[in-house]
Amino acid sequence: MFEGKTILTGVKPTGTPHLGNYLGAIRPAIRLGHEAVDNGGKHYMFIADYHAINAEKDPAVLNQKMKEIACIYLAGGLDPKKSVFYRQSDIPEIPEITTILYAYTPKGFMNKAHAYKAAVDKNIAAGKPNDDGINMGLYTYPTLMAADILAYDTDIVPVGKDQVQHVEIARDIAGIINAHYNKPLLHLPEYYVDENVAVVPGIDGRKMSKSYGNVIPLFDEDKAIKKAIFSIKTDSRPMEEPKNPDEILVYEIYKSIATPEQLQEMGDGLRQGKLGYGHIKNMLLDAVINEIKDAREKYNYYMAHFEEVEQMLAEGAAKARPAAQATLKRLKDAVFGR
Ligand code: TRP
Repeated sequence: MFEGKTILTGVKPTGTPHLGNYLGAIRPAIRLGHEAVDNGGKHYMFIADYHAINAEKDPAVLNQKMKEIACIYLAGGLDPKKSVFYRQSDIPEIPEITTILYAYTPKGFMNKAHAYKAAVDKNIAAGKPNDDGINMGLYTYPTLMAADILAYDTDIVPVGKDQVQHVEIARDIAGIINAHYNKPLLHLPEYYVDENVAVVPGIDGRKMSKSYGNVIPLFDEDKAIKKAIFSIKTDSRPMEEPKNPDEILVYEIYKSIATPEQLQEMGDGLRQGKLGYGHIKNMLLDAVINEIKDAREKYNYYMAHFEEVEQMLAEGAAKARPAAQATLKRLKDAVFGR
């Protein structure tokens, strides 16, 4: 898939990723990017720290989140020799491109963007003025994101469903500029939503999400992971009672991590009344720890030696900038008639 294509993955350094993010988004993104590189394509992987400052104003928190996210991707197997791994704020061409895009971006595009609309709806529901607490960074968020994408002549942007509209906006802005100058100044990107990536349920059965408080932590100590897993909802049926595994949450979560053989074993044990909830929780715990063990060690190493990561990010920015510079030049030449 994606032979010879340029793939771009952006991630906002907010929140602390949990097991669901790791299995459902982070690992698949790395796999997809590396696959493209192995097939003659390119992978840009960046930390969207300019996007993060719209919501987070504490520099210590921002810096901590940036470090965490960089180390999580490296721990999850991101290879900076394959993927161009950089920080958005290290590419000064991005805000320059954004400024040019503004002049061609209908204001209505921003009015209808989900993130802004959701913030307005929240204000209305709370009886506050529509734009209360909304800054221009949040309002113009999709234009900056368009610059991120268009700077590198990106073919494919893998995203979750919530980001599809933003990629469409990037494509529309590029289309407007190309039409105005009647030449392909900007490459039209496409979004890609991977339908096969499992949504990992949380410990209460809803989608695993920090906002629901139902997460299994990632790269935390065994004790913390165990505590979350042992608080997964179960009922009071005795072990001997045969159970349909598909109705059991521990089994549902196990699906996103177990091998087919392991899954079969748990399923059979439940159907035959040979495994109790304590057993299957321990099986899940073993699988989770086994899955993250090596990555957690890598994560802890990089967090403790962040200067090595800084070096990687600097090298990544140096690799990314020429493409962004070329796009900026193309735009400036056209816009200013040079
Ligand atoms: N908006 C994305 C998110 O919240 C992050 C992001 C910023 C991004 N720029 C991007 C994603 C460009 C893909 C491409 O998840």
